[in-house]
Amino acid sequence: MKVIGLVGSPRKNGNIDVLLQKAMEGAEAQGSTTAIYYLNEDNICGCQACGGCKTIGRCVVEDGLSEIFSAIDAADSVIIGSPIYFGRFTAQTALFMDRLFGYLKPDFSSSLGKGKKYSLIFTQNQSDSGTYTNTINAAAQQLEFIGFESGPKPLVGTGLPNAGMVRDNKQLLQDAYNIGKELAHQ
Ligand SMILES: Cc1cc2nc3c(=O)[nH]c(=O)nc-3n(C[C@H](O)[C@H](O)[C@H](O)COP(=O)(O)O)c2cc1C
Repeated sequence: MKVIGLVGSPRKNGNIDVLLQKAMEGAEAQGSTTAIYYLNEDNICGCQACGGCKTIGRCVVEDGLSEIFSAIDAADSVIIGSPIYFGRFTAQTALFMDRLFGYLKPDFSSSLGKGKKYSLIFTQNQSDSGTYTNTINAAAQQLEFIGFESGPKPLVGTGLPNAGMVRDNKQLLQDAYNIGKELAHQ
């Protein structure tokens, strides 16, 4: 099995990065190969609405996402992690999410391939994990429309204003580990 993580936070070693690293550890412990990719790269642009994907079934824009799309093609499971910014996922994550349009054929059926699982990890400052349920549901709905299949339920890390402070939260680290472990089994 191959499990990959996409970090939608600009902070390396921030809360999302730490949780995705834990999820990868969980997957590796089950024998999966893993890789983490960072969406906060200068050379990643938004969807250009060029329509090129509708002729070849894949995004035709060549930039930092090209390698990530190849990794998604080769992966069995993808974990997408983003901090909550003003009630939604980050702009870096949004660029990626829009570019998934490349996996929709002209009739809006999916060219992603069957059986590719996803899971979501969010972190936020708010203490109530239900505050941004709409954002989480919208992300899940989009990913399923693109053709990903639902994996372990989304993880929401709360009360995390500072970079990396999730390292002190053993329960969240364990929950992230379990997501990777579970995906490695599916
Ligand atoms: C621009 C910005 C907007 C934010 N908006 C929210 C918000 O609407 N609600 C919230 O609970 N936390 C908000 N936060 C806090 C982050 O979601 C939180 O600190 C998160 O754990 C950061 O994850 P990271 O360390 O991976 O970057 C915001 C942070 C920034 C920088």
